[in-house]
Amino acid sequence: MKTSLLLMILALTINGCKENTNSKQKLAEKGESSRKWWKEAIIYQIYPRSFKDTNGDGVGDLKGITQKLDYIESLGVTAVWLNPIYSSPNDDNGYDVSNYRDIMSDFGTMEDFDHMLSEMHERNIKLVMDVVVNHSSDEHYWFQQSRSSRDNPYRDYYHWWPAEKGEPNYRYSLFDEKGDAWKYDSLTDAYYLHYFSQKQPDLNWENPKVRKEVYDIMHFWAEKGVDGFRLDAFQFVAKDTTFPAIDDDLEKNFIEHYAVQDGLHDYLKEMYEEVFSKYDVMSVAEGAGRNFEDAHNLVDADRKELNMAYAFEGVDIAKPEGYSLKHFKEVFTKWEREFSEKGWLSIFLANHDQARLVSRFGNDSPKYRAPSAKMLNTFILSMRGTPYCYYGDELGMTNGNFETIEDFKDIAAINGYKKVINENGDVDQYLKNLRFSSRDNGRTPMQWSASEHAGFSTGEPWLPVTDNYKTINVVTEETDSSSVLNHFKKMVQLRKSHDVLVYGEYRLLAASHPEVYAFSRELDEKKVLVLLNFSADDAHVELEELSAISDTLINNLDIVDIVENRISLQPYQAIIFSLN
Ligand code: GLC
Ligand code: CA
Repeated sequence: MKTSLLLMILALTINGCKENTNSKQKLAEKGESSRKWWKEAIIYQIYPRSFKDTNGDGVGDLKGITQKLDYIESLGVTAVWLNPIYSSPNDDNGYDVSNYRDIMSDFGTMEDFDHMLSEMHERNIKLVMDVVVNHSSDEHYWFQQSRSSRDNPYRDYYHWWPAEKGEPNYRYSLFDEKGDAWKYDSLTDAYYLHYFSQKQPDLNWENPKVRKEVYDIMHFWAEKGVDGFRLDAFQFVAKDTTFPAIDDDLEKNFIEHYAVQDGLHDYLKEMYEEVFSKYDVMSVAEGAGRNFEDAHNLVDADRKELNMAYAFEGVDIAKPEGYSLKHFKEVFTKWEREFSEKGWLSIFLANHDQARLVSRFGNDSPKYRAPSAKMLNTFILSMRGTPYCYYGDELGMTNGNFETIEDFKDIAAINGYKKVINENGDVDQYLKNLRFSSRDNGRTPMQWSASEHAGFSTGEPWLPVTDNYKTINVVTEETDSSSVLNHFKKMVQLRKSHDVLVYGEYRLLAASHPEVYAFSRELDEKKVLVLLNFSADDAHVELEELSAISDTLINNLDIVDIVENRISLQPYQAIIFSLN
């Protein structure tokens, strides 16, 4: 028994080594051909409503973004992803588009857009546009036509269920106050489908005319010179239009029944043929399906669909009650492994649908806010995959000051509240969760300076500035060499000057350590060691690699405390060493 076990272990070790050498060889072989600008990109996500207001109406605008391009350039980031800027009645802040070829009046004009884009390109910053085509606004011309009569040529642009067939089978809506995705419209005595709000009717992707419209829109923007597309809620576009009964808890398991349904890959292949293959644009869709197989099928290069997966499992880890680092490591390591040979990932811990990075994943107490924000930015910028940095996280901006339901502006928060009341749920608990998790936390105005409204606007901002803006802001942090901002810039430069951080093989070390996330990255002869203390305690870790340190590449604190192969890390300390 004992010998055979030993043999098995031996065999496994030998196999493990063989695998390692193989993947190293492959890295070198793959080399240049697998290099892509979008793999090397560092994406800065801007929520335009909240970035910079230039006309005092309290709403950010395109001129504001243009005005701040020198700042964006100073960060070192190479691309900007803008949340939607198209005409919209703003039921969901621009995710309800009423004209895909025009700019939202709040944000400015097409001239402002053209100017902004050329100023970005002037600075070698690329622009990724958000394409919202699972649904449009109910105020879009297509929908106005579609609902006007049953025989209107636009009728089949959307999903209608004639009332004489009886009530349609239940579908869950994420933003509806009753959770019901069907809305009855008396004008034609029929129901229309809306996975999101009632003002966001779902487009019918089975209709080739709808698909053609979308590709034309994408051509319109690609011809203007935009460099990429992020496809909003795209994994939901394919639907079984017979709308059969679904015998499951749809609210809980909607991804299972809504994501990557039959037809989706055909649409993506067609979009690739019609649009992506014709331009040097990057493509990413929100969500990565139900499992790894779905994710690979969306992004493996030979599939000719999308460039990179944007999976939620990582960002979803943080809960109001906290999270375990062990779980965090498992999730990121599992995705990394799964995509080490084929496909490419997006790396992010925040976006406009989440509360703030440092409040969710770090520690926003005065003592630990700065080190933990730096540590998290170190993580995002040292993993394999394209990093997405959300505006304000480079400063360590925190969650906002929200108390009562009246303080929230987000439709998801407001209709969610109504739904809890409708269902006689626990309103206090809901509000408590909202204060921590609401998307509004991540949408407060950018903190530019210590002056009124944080220098965001001369008028009353659409969403209040967070109280701490007098200390957490660009002006203050620019002049403080040890600020979160300066650490972010340094980390960006480090990634840009070290291919190993982009392409290098990842290896998890000290896997079961409860406080420290340690991993190495290796590419050809270059090897680095990343050490991140995710806790508010001192932590120690013993690693063989510590004997091979040649240099400290970045450190968010002043100390390096190593005795032999054992390093002591201060709370939230983050260090990257280069190794011999
Ligand atoms: C996506 C967007 C989110 C929006 C929703 C509906 O999830 O990221 O902000 O509310 O789609 O368009
Ligand atoms: Ca404005």
